Amino acid sequence: MEPKKIKDGVFWAGAVDWDRRLFDSLIPLPDGTSYNAYIVKGSQKTALIDTVDPSKSPVLLDELKGVEKIDYVISQHSEQDHSGTLPEVLKRYPDARLLTSPKGREFLGDLLGIAGDKITAVSDGETLDLGGKTLEFLHTPWVHWPETISTYLKEDRILFSCDLFGSHLASASLYVDDYEKVCEASKRYYAEVMMPFRATIKKHMERFGKFPIEIIAPSHGPLHKDPECIMKSHAEWISEKLSNKVILPYATMHGSTEAMVDFLTESLVKNGVGVEKFNLAVTDLGKLAMSLVDAPTIVFGSPTVLIGAHPAVIHAAFMVNALRPKLKFASIIGSYGWGGKMAEQVASTMSGLKAEMLENVLVKGRPKEADFAAIERLALAITARHRENNIS
Ligand code: FEO
Repeated sequence: MEPKKIKDGVFWAGAVDWDRRLFDSLIPLPDGTSYNAYIVKGSQKTALIDTVDPSKSPVLLDELKGVEKIDYVISQHSEQDHSGTLPEVLKRYPDARLLTSPKGREFLGDLLGIAGDKITAVSDGETLDLGGKTLEFLHTPWVHWPETISTYLKEDRILFSCDLFGSHLASASLYVDDYEKVCEASKRYYAEVMMPFRATIKKHMERFGKFPIEIIAPSHGPLHKDPECIMKSHAEWISEKLSNKVILPYATMHGSTEAMVDFLTESLVKNGVGVEKFNLAVTDLGKLAMSLVDAPTIVFGSPTVLIGAHPAVIHAAFMVNALRPKLKFASIIGSYGWGGKMAEQVASTMSGLKAEMLENVLVKGRPKEADFAAIERLALAITARHRENNIS
């Protein structure tokens, strides 16, 4: 395949992975993904920005077959879906200088065994003149590793934004051609990967705002010719804005917990609070992550397996805890047979959240009248908290 032209002297040379369905053996990829690498040719020098996942290295090497010389290889992010083909690229272009952040230099040594003397660490704001193409390196740590950098191409006003503003979306189009589809995929990507780093993203976005940007070229998914659009979406996702809704992830074995979840749903809806329910036996965890972007409240529903929580609930609680969403309130409901530590286990798994724990509702066997009354009280408590906090 030939590299795709973005501007004179600027090309996309990545790989589209239509069939990948899982990332990190964890994140569902319903729409595949792409690994975006870029070639920037100046009148004097040529640079390659990032590489591709090692599973796609033949694709990148084929795209590079017409590129006689690469002077610089820029590694914006050491995670292997972008750095994994570096060793092969450096083998083909042994005189190329590898540029990355100081932390990236360490990581590339640790992860890929690339010798430190092959790598130059660039400082924040440092520029590289390729001859009519000037690259400025911006240290943008924690999107989503500590070593990540972005690169701004001054003459063409292109921001190579690393994983930030990316989407796991395989597409035949170089640019966004279906905004709704890309927005959905970007939100999923943000929720699964970037959400814990909201504060950092805010700072990076304030900095990007000082650059005139015509194109955002992320490391995954289609490129953005309308940077304002994707930036606006991200600004909303990282904002303090919360929707008047409750997220209800649950598992059920014989229907008791589900009956409680259903009753809580009805009670909340009656009170004017929206509900997003996720039966963890069948749910797509990416959808659950997306629902958390603007959620103020979560209620886990779990039966008791032996003496503890259902493993699917622990898995989900672990994920929620790791993603550090904006949640303000939480509770646990569920059924048990002979006691146990279900609620204790779920609470300790999500102990990193800064959410106020509301009263749990734990029921022996099937829920009875008094139990439904307790669920109704929980619904009222949630509704009141939302009102008090102007969550509408
Ligand atoms: Fe796309 Fe963090 O690697």
